[in-house]
Amino acid sequence: MSESLTELTKKITVCEACHLKEGRTQVVPGIYGQKNGLCFIGEAPGYYEDQKGVPFVGRSGKLLDKMLEGINLVRQRDVSVLNIIKCRPTTEEGNNRTPTEKELRFCGERWMYKQLNFLSPKMIVTLGGIALKFFSPNTSVTKTAGKMINTDSNYQIFVTYHPAYILRNYNLMEEYNTHFENIKRILNGEMDETNSKEKEQQKIPKQKSEQKSLTDFL
Ligand code: URA
Repeated sequence: MSESLTELTKKITVCEACHLKEGRTQVVPGIYGQKNGLCFIGEAPGYYEDQKGVPFVGRSGKLLDKMLEGINLVRQRDVSVLNIIKCRPTTEEGNNRTPTEKELRFCGERWMYKQLNFLSPKMIVTLGGIALKFFSPNTSVTKTAGKMINTDSNYQIFVTYHPAYILRNYNLMEEYNTHFENIKRILNGEMDETNSKEKEQQKIPKQKSEQKSLTDFL
């Protein structure tokens, strides 16, 4: 009998396959929107995610939700949000740390790929350089941000910045708004996903009111 996504998620929540179990409060499997829908992928849970068991609930998550709101999407209803790593990587002092490549490979291959098999997303968006490098180790966000790229895995991905990076580099907010508008256009078939060029006749006028500014989420 084949496994369901619910069964897979139950297994993820009790995973003890690596040392990251020692520093976690709880596993953060991810949240699921619709099958064949939009799926965002980040790197790993931080402090707040580890406390709640839900991805992107800190300041980065608030920005992600605002960005989604700007393109009329609601996370709980419309999108799946996963991390490559399901347990918070911590330093010896108990602070957040960047996951190692080995940790990413181990957890991503053990769990995230299986989640993606179930979700079969129409569009995958990686948030930041760590998630991008998991799919495409020789690519950088600087070179590919805002583009749909083929990867070394089976997946095509749309590359964008991690929300935490935008919170530190607010000058990129306008570009970030454009990325999210383009995500919506690609999802709606209004933009050529292979080179992220708009189909001119279907261009949606930019709506100033939907654009996000820093004060919207601080
Ligand atoms: N950063 C991530 O990459 N994932 C989270 O869940 C939170 C912050």
